[in-house]
Amino acid sequence: MFVNAVWSLLGWWVLVCTAKPAWKENATVPLVLWHGMGDSCCNPLSMGAIKKMVEVEIPGIYVLSLEIGNNIAEDAENSFFMNTNDQVTMACDKISKDPNLQAGYNAMGFSQGGQFLRAVVQRCPSPPMKNLISVGGQHQGVYGLPHCPGHSVAICNWIRKMLNTGAYTKLVQDHLVQAQYWHDPLNEELYQQHSLFLADINQERSVNETYKKNLQALEKLVMVKFLKDSMVEPVVSEWFGFYKPGQAKETESLQESALYKEDRLGLQAMDKAGKLVFLTSDGDHLQFTDEWFKNNILPYLH
Ligand SMILES: *[C@@H]1O[C@H](CO)[C@@H](O)[C@H](O)[C@H]1NC(C)=O
Ligand SMILES: *[C@@H]1O[C@H](CO)[C@@H](O)[C@H](O)[C@H]1NC(C)=O
Repeated sequence: MFVNAVWSLLGWWVLVCTAKPAWKENATVPLVLWHGMGDSCCNPLSMGAIKKMVEVEIPGIYVLSLEIGNNIAEDAENSFFMNTNDQVTMACDKISKDPNLQAGYNAMGFSQGGQFLRAVVQRCPSPPMKNLISVGGQHQGVYGLPHCPGHSVAICNWIRKMLNTGAYTKLVQDHLVQAQYWHDPLNEELYQQHSLFLADINQERSVNETYKKNLQALEKLVMVKFLKDSMVEPVVSEWFGFYKPGQAKETESLQESALYKEDRLGLQAMDKAGKLVFLTSDGDHLQFTDEWFKNNILPYLH
């Protein structure tokens, strides 16, 4: 009787300890999410819904939605006020310490989370990122902040004032996330010299060969542009294009830009290798249907 009980306990113990987490059995590639401005890791209407949909569509997948800070309120606040380079360091730290991500992962960033995850792949090659999906990310920055999402109107007005009074002053650069990817085409030189974040990851001051090598290690860089985007100026920044230097009317595509022609970031090489994917969604900023997501994005999550 006693022996039997011991054996069955032992059997139970062996079963528990050898059972692998579900996602390992099917060898799905885990996914890391980074939310946009004013949002948080776990809002049930945004990142929470995306996480849930992915988990339903890809059974057993492990999804980490990055929380920058100690709680949801801090996370949302940090998306406005925490130095972006420090946020990237924090994200790299969480990713490198997560046992579920060690064999590699796909990453999906929403709005500014898109360019932040690009900094992660350029600076933190281990564990390896496979596909980077940028959903409305602004890879050449923004020059204009027409409005902010949700309830952040007061913050938005204040941010606009800061940007207009001196986006490239040390005080504003140090404390305002949106200033760190503010790209003034009328003052390219100021931008190149003083932008703490974007000018660095876009190799404006010097070419860091490590950034180039790490970015090119991606399997795919997928960029989604929203055709009716009323929040991002210019919208072509979502495809790595921008205003032609010296004015703020005419835009140029990535392929027309000096960054591409000089191949300072390896994007030309990636393009020729078929690693750049340009997608569109026919809506305003971050507006897409479940159907669109399933048809266009899910194929890159396997
Ligand atoms: C593994 O994949 C199969 C086939 O896609 C699916 O039916 C099954 O539910 C998955 N297992 C787990 C644990 O997710
Ligand atoms: C290039 O980037 C890597 C990764 O972030 C960093 O460790 C290194 O210091 C950078 N090199 C230069 C010259 O800035």
